[in-house]
Amino acid sequence: MENQTESAAAGQNNGKWGEYVTVDFDEGIAWVTLNRPKQRNAINPGIVWEMNAIMDALEEDDRCKVMVVTGAGESFSAGMDLKEYFRATDKVPPIQRERLFRANAAWQWRRMMYFPKPTISMVNGWCFGGAFQFLVGCDLAIASEDAIFGLSEINWGIIPAGIVTKSVLETMSFRDAMYYIMTGETFTGQQAADMKLVNKAVSPDELKAETRKLAMTLIGKNPFVLRQAKTACRFTRDLTWEQAGEYLMAKSDQTELRDPENGRNTGMSQFLDEKSFRPGLGAYRRD
Ligand code: COA
Repeated sequence: MENQTESAAAGQNNGKWGEYVTVDFDEGIAWVTLNRPKQRNAINPGIVWEMNAIMDALEEDDRCKVMVVTGAGESFSAGMDLKEYFRATDKVPPIQRERLFRANAAWQWRRMMYFPKPTISMVNGWCFGGAFQFLVGCDLAIASEDAIFGLSEINWGIIPAGIVTKSVLETMSFRDAMYYIMTGETFTGQQAADMKLVNKAVSPDELKAETRKLAMTLIGKNPFVLRQAKTACRFTRDLTWEQAGEYLMAKSDQTELRDPENGRNTGMSQFLDEKSFRPGLGAYRRD
């Protein structure tokens, strides 16, 4: 067991998945499910390596137009695995631990934030600690209204590290972030929606249908322009007004030049010449 954990920390899974994470394709949606329900989908090294392999594969798999991340059973994710991710790696050579931590940062936020396709977190249950990283790393999030969220780090003697503190400061108000980081109190999916940590909360029965509806809306848009728009959101946030103005003009030119669908002209033509659609009310026809 000790050796298995060490080799998992070293990243020896050969780019495979299916043991800890499953992927199901369905009409353009890739449902990516963390699959350790007995451990409440706590993130162990196996999930880390499998998620990196999955993201490598899905970015160029046409069956995936939108990636949804969720958890099997009653939990979204109980955060980092205290036994396999933390305690077990205290004993491995630092170079291996650092490689694991880098790989975890890669899938949870460095790659997730700039993944070329839209991403949605579907929060079906428990969501703790490190799970906030990929919750926020995804572009959009829908929660079950009875899901339970918590920044539990303070309860067991650590600070919300990785990039959790930054993630919550980016999405919650400063007061809410400080409150939940300092108290470790839990809050519900409905409260998460009220605080805008997730886009909306729905009943558990509606969760999958509502997530699918959102994914299908995104699938109806021009995928290249969608990619440009989400990347621009991520970068513009940290720019000054002047820098943002310059960057967005350049990004807009790049989008027009590189869009394989030539969407801007198609949309204009359908609106102005054919008078067959109204941009204010939906996406242009992508035949
Ligand atoms: N790391 C390692 N193991 C975890 C885990 C975690 N983050 N979360 C749950 N597990 C394991 C438990 O150790 C237990 O293992 P066992 O069956 O071998 O004893 C199993 O998952 C079930 O957990 P349990 O606590 O019995 O389930 P529960 O439904 O009563 O409670 C939680 C669910 C999520 C509230 C509780 O497991 C918990 O507090 N987990 C830690 C959450 C946390 O602080 N995460 C932040 C990490 S950064």
